[in-house]
Amino acid sequence: MASPVVEDPRLDGRPVKRIAFAGDQIAARVRELGRQITETYPDGELLVLGLLKGSFIFLSDLVREIRRPLQVDFLVAASYGDAMVSSGSVRLVYDPETTLEGKHILLVEDIVDSGRTLSRLMDLLSERSPRSLEVCALLHKHIAEHLRYPTKFVGFDAPNEFLVGYGLDHAENFRHLPYIASLQ
Ligand code: IMP
Ligand code: MG
Repeated sequence: MASPVVEDPRLDGRPVKRIAFAGDQIAARVRELGRQITETYPDGELLVLGLLKGSFIFLSDLVREIRRPLQVDFLVAASYGDAMVSSGSVRLVYDPETTLEGKHILLVEDIVDSGRTLSRLMDLLSERSPRSLEVCALLHKHIAEHLRYPTKFVGFDAPNEFLVGYGLDHAENFRHLPYIASLQ
């Protein structure tokens, strides 16, 4: 459903086509995901790994909805070569200091698009002998051709549009929007 163009001082006059997911809609879904994740891990150590920067808001809301002990760490990944045409190889710029061995690892991602980054990261993390390894993505475009791992937890199916807000950026802008908008 199309909403009128948004008047928001955070946007610096940039036209937004529509609000794809409102703040309260996101909050309700994050509560459900938290419940689902809590039920999925009845025992064992849980390490929630946020992929920076896009996951920072989602992760901070999500962990507060998970009602069991857990640890939080982050990953920073960089693709080799041209960022526009991903070569498919990825390296860790920041590697979690926490040990992964024997723990349930939940990798938290903002959006699954081509799925290249995610598949490479999963290969890398699975070599470290975790007890389990799953992905929780806020958004999924379902156009991924390079996904070799299923995304166990998905917040919303995303339209095939360029989305910003709630962590997602356009040239590092708009990450702080409390909703998810589709850019004009
Ligand atoms: P993939 O390796 O193609 O799946 O790339 C996923 C990454 O691209 C995400 O983690 C985002 O940082 C970025 N990305 C993909 N689609 C969008 C979008 O619609 N808005 C903002 N960032 C996006
Ligand atoms: Mg980005």
